[in-house]
Amino acid sequence: MLEIEKRFIDLHPKSKSLFDIGQTLFPSGVTHDIRALQPFPIYVDRADKGKKWDVDGNELIDYIGGHGSLLLGHNRQEITQAVQDALNFGTHFGSSHNHELDWAQSVIDMVPCAENVRFTSSGTEATMMALRLARAFTDRDVIIKLEDHFHGWHDIVVGKNYSDSIHAPGVPIDFYKSLSILQPNDIDSLVNRLKHKDVAAVILEPTGSHWGAHPLDIEYLKKVDEVSKATGTLFIMDEVITGFRMSPGGAQELYDLKPDLSTHAKILAGGLPGGCVAGRKDILDRIEFRDDQDWNVGEKIAHQGTYNANPISATAGKVALELIKDGEEIRKADELSVYLIRSLNEMFNKHSINGRAWTVSSMWHLNLGYKNLKQLSNIEETDWIYDELPNGVRDDLVLPLKWSLLNHGVDLFGTGGVMSSAHTIEDINLTIKAFEVAMEEIKSAGLEI
Ligand SMILES: Cc1ncc(COP(=O)(O)O)c(C=O)c1O
Repeated sequence: MLEIEKRFIDLHPKSKSLFDIGQTLFPSGVTHDIRALQPFPIYVDRADKGKKWDVDGNELIDYIGGHGSLLLGHNRQEITQAVQDALNFGTHFGSSHNHELDWAQSVIDMVPCAENVRFTSSGTEATMMALRLARAFTDRDVIIKLEDHFHGWHDIVVGKNYSDSIHAPGVPIDFYKSLSILQPNDIDSLVNRLKHKDVAAVILEPTGSHWGAHPLDIEYLKKVDEVSKATGTLFIMDEVITGFRMSPGGAQELYDLKPDLSTHAKILAGGLPGGCVAGRKDILDRIEFRDDQDWNVGEKIAHQGTYNANPISATAGKVALELIKDGEEIRKADELSVYLIRSLNEMFNKHSINGRAWTVSSMWHLNLGYKNLKQLSNIEETDWIYDELPNGVRDDLVLPLKWSLLNHGVDLFGTGGVMSSAHTIEDINLTIKAFEVAMEEIKSAGLEI
Protein backbone atom coordinates (compact mmCIF):
# COMPACT_ATOMS: atom_id res chain seq x y z
CA MET A 1 0.00 0.00 0.00
CA LEU A 2 1.29 3.48 -0.87
CA GLU A 3 2.29 5.77 2.00
CA ILE A 4 -0.24 8.31 0.63
CA GLU A 5 -3.09 5.82 1.02
CA LYS A 6 -1.96 4.86 4.57
CA ARG A 7 -1.98 8.53 5.50
CA PHE A 8 -5.46 8.90 4.00
CA ILE A 9 -6.73 6.01 6.14
CA ASP A 10 -5.05 7.44 9.28
CA LEU A 11 -6.59 10.86 8.75
CA HIS A 12 -10.15 9.62 8.19
CA PRO A 13 -11.09 7.03 10.89
CA LYS A 14 -14.65 8.33 11.38
CA SER A 15 -15.32 8.37 7.65
CA LYS A 16 -14.13 4.76 7.54
CA SER A 17 -16.57 3.79 10.37
CA LEU A 18 -19.49 5.51 8.60
CA PHE A 19 -18.57 3.80 5.34
CA ASP A 20 -18.70 0.44 7.14
CA ILE A 21 -22.36 1.23 7.84
CA GLY A 22 -22.95 2.70 4.36
CA GLN A 23 -21.74 -0.53 2.79
CA THR A 24 -24.50 -2.46 4.54
CA LEU A 25 -27.10 -0.04 3.15
CA PHE A 26 -26.11 0.99 -0.39
CA PRO A 27 -24.47 -0.70 -3.38
CA SER A 28 -20.77 0.15 -3.05
CA GLY A 29 -21.75 2.09 0.08
CA VAL A 30 -22.60 5.28 -1.84
CA THR A 31 -25.61 7.17 -3.20
CA HIS A 32 -24.10 8.49 -6.47
CA ASP A 33 -21.55 6.71 -8.68
CA ILE A 34 -19.20 9.67 -8.64
CA ARG A 35 -18.99 9.62 -4.83
CA ALA A 36 -17.40 6.15 -4.76
CA LEU A 37 -13.75 6.22 -3.70
CA GLN A 38 -11.23 3.55 -2.77
CA PRO A 39 -10.68 2.49 0.00
CA PHE A 40 -13.64 4.54 1.29
CA PRO A 41 -15.18 7.97 0.62
CA ILE A 42 -15.01 10.87 3.05
CA TYR A 43 -18.13 11.84 5.00
CA VAL A 44 -18.81 15.57 5.30
CA ASP A 45 -20.95 17.25 7.92
CA ARG A 46 -20.59 20.98 7.24
CA ALA A 47 -19.82 23.41 4.43
CA ASP A 48 -19.45 27.15 4.03
CA LYS A 49 -18.45 29.36 1.08
CA GLY A 50 -15.63 27.51 -0.73
CA LYS A 51 -14.91 25.05 2.07
CA LYS A 52 -16.29 21.99 3.78
CA TRP A 53 -15.37 19.96 6.86
CA ASP A 54 -15.37 16.19 7.15
CA VAL A 55 -16.49 14.16 10.16
CA ASP A 56 -12.85 13.76 11.23
CA GLY A 57 -12.49 17.55 11.48
CA ASN A 58 -10.40 17.94 8.33
CA GLU A 59 -10.93 21.25 6.53
CA LEU A 60 -11.21 20.97 2.76
CA ILE A 61 -11.25 23.48 -0.07
CA ASP A 62 -14.17 22.21 -2.04
CA TYR A 63 -14.06 22.01 -5.83
CA ILE A 64 -17.11 19.74 -6.14
CA GLY A 65 -19.42 22.69 -5.43
CA GLY A 66 -22.57 20.60 -4.98
CA HIS A 67 -21.82 18.77 -8.27
CA GLY A 68 -21.59 22.16 -9.96
CA SER A 69 -24.78 23.61 -8.49
CA LEU A 70 -23.11 26.13 -6.18
CA LEU A 71 -21.74 28.93 -8.33
CA LEU A 72 -22.33 31.18 -5.32
CA GLY A 73 -20.59 28.82 -2.88
CA HIS A 74 -22.00 27.01 0.13
CA ASN A 75 -24.52 28.76 2.39
CA ARG A 76 -24.96 31.94 0.39
CA GLN A 77 -26.73 33.98 3.00
CA GLU A 78 -29.51 35.43 0.79
CA ILE A 79 -30.46 31.92 -0.36
CA THR A 80 -30.38 30.16 3.01
CA GLN A 81 -32.35 33.03 4.59
CA ALA A 82 -35.02 32.93 1.86
CA VAL A 83 -35.27 29.14 2.17
CA GLN A 84 -35.61 29.32 5.95
CA ASP A 85 -38.33 31.94 5.60
CA ALA A 86 -40.15 29.91 2.95
CA LEU A 87 -40.09 26.79 5.15
CA ASN A 88 -42.34 28.57 7.63
CA PHE A 89 -45.08 28.69 5.01
CA GLY A 90 -45.01 24.96 4.14
CA THR A 91 -42.89 22.74 1.94
CA HIS A 92 -45.45 21.71 -0.67
CA PHE A 93 -48.77 23.24 -1.58
CA GLY A 94 -49.74 20.84 -4.36
CA SER A 95 -50.89 24.04 -6.07
CA SER A 96 -49.49 26.79 -8.24
CA HIS A 97 -47.68 29.56 -6.37
CA ASN A 98 -45.99 32.93 -6.79
CA HIS A 99 -42.38 31.75 -6.49
CA GLU A 100 -42.62 29.60 -9.62
CA LEU A 101 -43.68 32.66 -11.63
CA ASP A 102 -40.67 34.76 -10.56
CA TRP A 103 -38.36 31.79 -11.06
CA ALA A 104 -39.62 31.10 -14.60
CA GLN A 105 -39.54 34.80 -15.50
CA SER A 106 -35.85 34.94 -14.56
CA VAL A 107 -35.12 31.92 -16.78
CA ILE A 108 -36.95 33.60 -19.66
CA ASP A 109 -35.15 36.91 -19.06
CA MET A 110 -31.73 35.27 -18.87
CA VAL A 111 -31.66 32.33 -21.31
CA PRO A 112 -31.68 33.42 -24.98
CA CYS A 113 -33.76 30.50 -26.35
CA ALA A 114 -36.28 30.50 -23.49
CA GLU A 115 -39.69 31.60 -24.75
CA ASN A 116 -41.36 29.17 -22.36
CA VAL A 117 -40.29 26.93 -19.49
CA ARG A 118 -41.37 23.74 -17.74
CA PHE A 119 -39.83 22.78 -14.40
CA THR A 120 -38.69 19.28 -13.48
CA SER A 121 -36.96 17.87 -10.41
CA SER A 122 -33.55 17.14 -11.91
CA GLY A 123 -31.33 17.49 -14.95
CA THR A 124 -32.01 13.89 -15.89
CA GLU A 125 -35.72 14.62 -16.04
CA ALA A 126 -35.06 17.75 -18.07
CA THR A 127 -33.09 15.94 -20.79
CA MET A 128 -35.65 13.11 -20.79
CA MET A 129 -38.43 15.61 -21.38
CA ALA A 130 -36.52 17.59 -24.02
CA LEU A 131 -35.92 14.44 -26.06
CA ARG A 132 -39.53 13.34 -25.77
CA LEU A 133 -40.69 16.80 -26.82
CA ALA A 134 -38.34 16.68 -29.81
CA ARG A 135 -39.65 13.31 -30.95
CA ALA A 136 -43.26 14.33 -30.60
CA PHE A 137 -42.71 17.70 -32.28
CA THR A 138 -40.75 16.38 -35.27
CA ASP A 139 -42.60 13.07 -35.53
CA ARG A 140 -39.17 11.42 -35.85
CA ASP A 141 -37.62 8.82 -33.56
CA VAL A 142 -33.84 9.06 -33.87
CA ILE A 143 -31.75 10.96 -31.35
CA ILE A 144 -28.10 11.88 -31.86
CA LYS A 145 -25.74 12.31 -28.98
CA LEU A 146 -21.98 12.72 -28.96
CA GLU A 147 -19.57 10.09 -27.67
CA ASP A 148 -18.95 10.43 -23.92
CA HIS A 149 -21.31 13.40 -23.48
CA PHE A 150 -23.31 13.09 -20.27
CA HIS A 151 -27.01 13.88 -20.03
CA GLY A 152 -28.09 12.07 -16.86
CA TRP A 153 -29.14 8.46 -16.43
CA HIS A 154 -32.46 7.83 -18.23
CA ASP A 155 -32.70 5.05 -20.82
CA ILE A 156 -31.81 6.73 -24.11
CA VAL A 157 -28.86 8.84 -22.93
CA VAL A 158 -27.05 6.05 -21.07
CA GLY A 159 -26.49 4.11 -24.32
CA LYS A 160 -22.78 3.60 -25.03
CA ASN A 161 -20.85 2.11 -27.94
CA TYR A 162 -19.91 -1.36 -26.75
CA SER A 163 -18.55 -4.17 -28.95
CA ASP A 164 -20.08 -2.96 -32.22
CA SER A 165 -23.47 -1.95 -30.90
CA ILE A 166 -25.05 0.55 -28.56
CA HIS A 167 -25.68 -0.95 -25.20
CA ALA A 168 -26.61 -0.21 -21.59
CA PRO A 169 -27.35 -2.89 -18.99
CA GLY A 170 -31.06 -2.94 -18.19
CA VAL A 171 -32.18 -1.25 -21.42
CA PRO A 172 -33.64 -3.39 -24.24
CA ILE A 173 -31.20 -3.51 -27.15
CA ASP A 174 -33.94 -2.56 -29.65
CA PHE A 175 -34.38 0.70 -27.83
CA TYR A 176 -31.08 1.84 -29.28
CA LYS A 177 -32.26 1.47 -32.87
CA SER A 178 -33.27 5.07 -32.38
CA LEU A 179 -29.96 6.36 -31.03
CA SER A 180 -26.87 7.38 -33.01
CA ILE A 181 -23.67 8.21 -31.20
CA LEU A 182 -21.32 10.43 -33.21
CA GLN A 183 -17.77 11.57 -32.63
CA PRO A 184 -17.52 15.13 -31.28
CA ASN A 185 -15.97 17.74 -33.59
CA ASP A 186 -16.62 15.57 -36.69
CA ILE A 187 -18.95 17.70 -38.76
CA ASP A 188 -18.90 15.41 -41.82
CA SER A 189 -20.39 12.49 -39.90
CA LEU A 190 -23.09 14.77 -38.55
CA VAL A 191 -23.93 16.17 -41.99
CA ASN A 192 -24.10 12.62 -43.40
CA ARG A 193 -26.35 11.40 -40.62
CA LEU A 194 -28.69 14.39 -40.70
CA LYS A 195 -29.19 14.42 -44.47
CA HIS A 196 -31.68 11.51 -44.19
CA LYS A 197 -33.98 13.89 -42.32
CA ASP A 198 -35.08 11.24 -39.83
CA VAL A 199 -33.38 12.66 -36.74
CA ALA A 200 -35.55 14.31 -34.11
CA ALA A 201 -32.78 16.03 -32.16
CA VAL A 202 -29.08 16.45 -31.56
CA ILE A 203 -28.25 16.83 -27.89
CA LEU A 204 -24.82 17.81 -26.61
CA GLU A 205 -22.84 19.37 -23.79
CA PRO A 206 -21.84 22.74 -25.28
CA THR A 207 -18.35 22.79 -23.74
CA GLY A 208 -17.58 19.16 -24.67
CA SER A 209 -17.95 16.04 -22.60
CA HIS A 210 -17.77 16.19 -18.82
CA TRP A 211 -18.10 19.98 -18.66
CA GLY A 212 -15.20 20.59 -21.00
CA ALA A 213 -12.78 17.78 -20.14
CA HIS A 214 -12.74 17.06 -23.89
CA PRO A 215 -13.28 20.49 -25.40
CA LEU A 216 -15.74 21.02 -28.23
CA ASP A 217 -14.78 23.30 -31.08
CA ILE A 218 -16.97 26.40 -31.15
CA GLU A 219 -16.99 26.28 -34.96
CA TYR A 220 -18.37 22.73 -34.65
CA LEU A 221 -21.11 23.94 -32.30
CA LYS A 222 -22.11 26.64 -34.76
CA LYS A 223 -22.20 24.10 -37.56
CA VAL A 224 -24.39 21.73 -35.49
CA ASP A 225 -26.83 24.57 -35.02
CA GLU A 226 -26.81 25.39 -38.74
CA VAL A 227 -27.09 21.80 -40.07
CA SER A 228 -29.76 20.86 -37.54
CA LYS A 229 -31.92 23.77 -38.53
CA ALA A 230 -31.43 23.04 -42.24
CA THR A 231 -32.64 19.45 -41.82
CA GLY A 232 -35.62 20.00 -39.53
CA THR A 233 -33.70 18.49 -36.60
CA LEU A 234 -34.01 20.13 -33.20
CA PHE A 235 -30.81 21.34 -31.55
CA ILE A 236 -30.81 20.76 -27.78
CA MET A 237 -28.07 22.32 -25.69
CA ASP A 238 -27.74 20.51 -22.39
CA GLU A 239 -26.86 23.42 -20.13
CA VAL A 240 -27.37 21.54 -16.86
CA ILE A 241 -23.82 22.41 -15.83
CA THR A 242 -23.00 25.38 -18.09
CA GLY A 243 -26.28 27.25 -17.61
CA PHE A 244 -26.03 30.36 -15.38
CA ARG A 245 -22.28 29.57 -15.02
CA MET A 246 -20.66 30.54 -18.33
CA SER A 247 -22.74 33.71 -18.56
CA PRO A 248 -26.16 34.69 -17.15
CA GLY A 249 -27.63 33.03 -20.26
CA GLY A 250 -25.18 30.10 -20.20
CA ALA A 251 -23.08 28.78 -23.08
CA GLN A 252 -25.72 29.77 -25.65
CA GLU A 253 -25.40 33.44 -24.72
CA LEU A 254 -21.60 33.31 -24.60
CA TYR A 255 -21.35 31.58 -27.98
CA ASP A 256 -24.21 33.59 -29.51
CA LEU A 257 -26.31 30.53 -30.35
CA LYS A 258 -30.03 29.93 -30.05
CA PRO A 259 -30.84 26.24 -29.67
CA ASP A 260 -34.42 25.07 -30.09
CA LEU A 261 -34.44 23.79 -26.53
CA SER A 262 -32.03 23.88 -23.61
CA THR A 263 -32.02 21.83 -20.45
CA HIS A 264 -31.08 23.23 -17.04
CA ALA A 265 -30.65 22.15 -13.42
CA LYS A 266 -28.00 22.63 -10.70
CA ILE A 267 -27.41 26.43 -10.41
CA LEU A 268 -30.97 26.93 -11.68
CA ALA A 269 -32.35 25.80 -8.31
CA GLY A 270 -29.77 27.52 -6.12
CA GLY A 271 -28.32 24.27 -4.77
CA LEU A 272 -31.66 22.53 -4.19
CA PRO A 273 -33.25 19.88 -6.44
CA GLY A 274 -34.76 21.29 -9.61
CA GLY A 275 -34.45 21.37 -13.38
CA CYS A 276 -36.21 22.74 -16.42
CA VAL A 277 -36.62 22.59 -20.16
CA ALA A 278 -36.54 26.02 -21.74
CA GLY A 279 -37.00 26.90 -25.39
CA ARG A 280 -39.36 27.50 -28.27
CA LYS A 281 -42.95 27.93 -27.19
CA ASP A 282 -44.32 25.98 -30.16
CA ILE A 283 -42.29 22.95 -28.99
CA LEU A 284 -43.14 23.27 -25.29
CA ASP A 285 -46.79 23.65 -26.33
CA ARG A 286 -46.73 19.90 -26.86
CA ILE A 287 -47.37 19.73 -23.10
CA GLU A 288 -50.42 22.02 -23.16
CA PHE A 289 -54.03 20.90 -22.72
CA ARG A 290 -56.38 21.82 -25.51
CA ASP A 291 -60.09 21.87 -25.87
CA ASP A 292 -59.74 18.81 -28.06
CA GLN A 293 -59.89 15.27 -26.74
CA ASP A 294 -57.95 13.84 -29.71
CA TRP A 295 -55.06 16.20 -28.94
CA ASN A 296 -55.13 15.55 -25.19
CA VAL A 297 -55.07 11.77 -25.61
CA GLY A 298 -53.20 11.36 -28.89
CA GLU A 299 -50.76 14.28 -29.11
CA LYS A 300 -50.19 15.94 -25.75
CA ILE A 301 -47.15 14.92 -23.73
CA ALA A 302 -48.06 14.06 -20.17
CA HIS A 303 -45.97 15.75 -17.55
CA GLN A 304 -46.39 15.13 -13.85
CA GLY A 305 -43.78 15.19 -11.08
CA THR A 306 -44.56 15.66 -7.40
CA TYR A 307 -41.68 18.03 -6.74
CA ASN A 308 -41.79 20.11 -9.95
CA ALA A 309 -41.30 23.75 -8.95
CA ASN A 310 -41.80 22.94 -5.28
CA PRO A 311 -41.89 26.21 -3.32
CA ILE A 312 -38.58 25.62 -1.54
CA SER A 313 -36.53 24.93 -4.68
CA ALA A 314 -38.39 27.71 -6.49
CA THR A 315 -37.47 30.15 -3.73
CA ALA A 316 -33.80 29.14 -3.72
CA GLY A 317 -33.74 29.25 -7.51
CA LYS A 318 -35.31 32.65 -7.92
CA VAL A 319 -32.95 34.21 -5.35
CA ALA A 320 -29.91 32.53 -6.94
CA LEU A 321 -30.82 33.72 -10.44
CA GLU A 322 -31.48 37.22 -9.14
CA LEU A 323 -27.96 37.26 -7.67
CA ILE A 324 -26.41 35.90 -10.88
CA LYS A 325 -28.32 38.07 -13.35
CA ASP A 326 -25.81 40.95 -13.64
CA GLY A 327 -22.89 38.60 -14.36
CA GLU A 328 -20.67 39.85 -11.51
CA GLU A 329 -20.62 36.53 -9.59
CA ILE A 330 -19.81 34.70 -12.82
CA ARG A 331 -16.94 37.10 -13.56
CA LYS A 332 -15.53 36.53 -10.04
CA ALA A 333 -15.63 32.73 -10.35
CA ASP A 334 -14.08 32.90 -13.85
CA GLU A 335 -11.23 35.11 -12.65
CA LEU A 336 -10.49 32.86 -9.69
CA SER A 337 -10.42 29.88 -11.99
CA VAL A 338 -7.94 31.62 -14.30
CA TYR A 339 -5.74 32.48 -11.30
CA LEU A 340 -5.85 28.85 -10.16
CA ILE A 341 -4.90 27.30 -13.45
CA ARG A 342 -2.14 29.84 -14.23
CA SER A 343 -0.64 29.19 -10.79
CA LEU A 344 -0.92 25.43 -11.35
CA ASN A 345 0.76 25.65 -14.75
CA GLU A 346 3.59 27.77 -13.29
CA MET A 347 4.09 25.17 -10.57
CA PHE A 348 4.06 22.32 -13.13
CA ASN A 349 6.67 24.17 -15.22
CA LYS A 350 8.84 24.95 -12.17
CA HIS A 351 9.01 21.27 -11.18
CA SER A 352 9.16 19.94 -14.77
CA ILE A 353 5.94 18.03 -14.27
CA ASN A 354 4.04 16.71 -17.26
CA GLY A 355 0.91 18.55 -16.28
CA ARG A 356 -1.36 21.18 -17.82
CA ALA A 357 -4.41 22.82 -16.35
CA TRP A 358 -7.00 24.71 -18.36
CA THR A 359 -10.34 26.27 -17.67
CA VAL A 360 -13.62 26.71 -19.46
CA SER A 361 -15.27 29.60 -17.66
CA SER A 362 -15.17 28.42 -14.00
CA MET A 363 -14.83 24.69 -14.81
CA TRP A 364 -11.18 23.67 -14.67
CA HIS A 365 -9.47 20.49 -15.79
CA LEU A 366 -6.17 18.67 -15.59
CA ASN A 367 -4.03 16.75 -18.02
CA LEU A 368 -1.41 14.97 -15.93
CA GLY A 369 1.25 12.35 -16.49
CA TYR A 370 1.44 12.42 -20.31
CA LYS A 371 4.76 13.34 -21.87
CA ASN A 372 3.68 14.23 -25.37
CA LEU A 373 2.79 17.88 -24.76
CA LYS A 374 5.16 20.65 -25.73
CA GLN A 375 5.98 23.11 -22.97
CA LEU A 376 3.45 25.90 -22.53
CA SER A 377 5.23 28.88 -24.01
CA ASN A 378 2.66 31.35 -22.73
CA ILE A 379 1.79 30.79 -19.11
CA GLU A 380 -1.08 33.28 -19.46
CA GLU A 381 -2.87 30.79 -21.74
CA THR A 382 -6.07 29.53 -20.12
CA ASP A 383 -7.56 27.35 -22.88
CA TRP A 384 -6.58 23.89 -24.00
CA ILE A 385 -4.32 25.00 -26.87
CA TYR A 386 -3.07 21.71 -28.30
CA ASP A 387 -4.35 20.03 -31.47
CA GLU A 388 -4.72 16.67 -29.76
CA LEU A 389 -7.46 16.30 -27.16
CA PRO A 390 -6.45 16.09 -23.49
CA ASN A 391 -6.10 12.65 -21.92
CA GLY A 392 -7.04 13.74 -18.40
CA VAL A 393 -5.13 12.34 -15.44
CA ARG A 394 -3.19 9.13 -16.17
CA ASP A 395 -5.06 6.16 -14.67
CA ASP A 396 -2.41 5.15 -12.13
CA LEU A 397 -2.21 8.73 -10.82
CA VAL A 398 -5.92 9.31 -10.22
CA LEU A 399 -6.15 7.76 -6.75
CA PRO A 400 -2.77 8.89 -5.39
CA LEU A 401 -3.60 12.44 -6.52
CA LYS A 402 -7.04 12.31 -4.94
CA TRP A 403 -5.75 10.88 -1.62
CA SER A 404 -2.80 13.21 -1.39
CA LEU A 405 -4.93 16.30 -2.07
CA LEU A 406 -7.54 15.17 0.47
CA ASN A 407 -4.73 14.63 2.98
CA HIS A 408 -3.65 18.22 2.36
CA GLY A 409 -7.09 19.81 2.36
CA VAL A 410 -8.38 19.84 -1.24
CA ASP A 411 -11.37 17.95 -2.66
CA LEU A 412 -11.43 17.60 -6.46
CA PHE A 413 -14.53 17.04 -8.60
CA GLY A 414 -13.45 14.01 -10.64
CA THR A 415 -10.00 15.07 -11.79
CA GLY A 416 -10.72 18.80 -11.95
CA GLY A 417 -13.08 21.17 -10.26
CA VAL A 418 -15.68 23.88 -10.37
CA MET A 419 -14.93 27.27 -8.90
CA SER A 420 -17.45 29.38 -7.02
CA SER A 421 -17.56 33.13 -6.52
CA ALA A 422 -17.13 32.43 -2.78
CA HIS A 423 -13.65 30.91 -3.10
CA THR A 424 -10.83 33.25 -2.09
CA ILE A 425 -7.29 33.90 -3.29
CA GLU A 426 -6.15 32.35 -0.01
CA ASP A 427 -8.14 29.15 -0.82
CA ILE A 428 -6.39 29.00 -4.16
CA ASN A 429 -2.92 29.63 -2.77
CA LEU A 430 -3.54 26.77 -0.31
CA THR A 431 -4.69 24.62 -3.21
CA ILE A 432 -1.46 25.27 -5.11
CA LYS A 433 0.60 24.37 -2.04
CA ALA A 434 -1.41 21.15 -1.63
CA PHE A 435 -0.79 20.30 -5.30
CA GLU A 436 2.93 21.00 -4.92
CA VAL A 437 3.16 18.62 -1.95
CA ALA A 438 1.01 16.06 -3.81
CA MET A 439 3.42 16.12 -6.77
CA GLU A 440 6.35 15.49 -4.39
CA GLU A 441 4.54 12.63 -2.66
CA ILE A 442 3.54 11.04 -5.94
CA LYS A 443 7.14 11.21 -7.18
CA SER A 444 8.38 9.77 -3.85
CA ALA A 445 5.95 6.88 -4.32
CA GLY A 446 7.89 6.03 -7.49
CA LEU A 447 5.23 7.20 -9.93
CA GLU A 448 6.39 9.08 -12.98
CA ILE A 449 4.90 12.50 -13.61
C1 LIG B 1 -24.60 18.04 -18.67
C2 LIG B 1 -25.46 17.30 -17.69
N1 LIG B 1 -26.68 16.87 -18.06
C3 LIG B 1 -27.50 16.22 -17.22
C4 LIG B 1 -27.10 15.95 -15.93
C5 LIG B 1 -28.02 15.22 -15.00
O1 LIG B 1 -28.51 16.09 -14.03
P1 LIG B 1 -29.05 15.52 -12.64
O2 LIG B 1 -27.86 14.97 -11.91
O3 LIG B 1 -29.67 16.72 -11.97
O4 LIG B 1 -30.05 14.47 -12.96
C6 LIG B 1 -25.84 16.36 -15.49
C7 LIG B 1 -25.40 16.07 -14.12
O5 LIG B 1 -24.25 16.15 -13.75
C8 LIG B 1 -24.99 17.06 -16.38
O6 LIG B 1 -23.77 17.47 -16.03
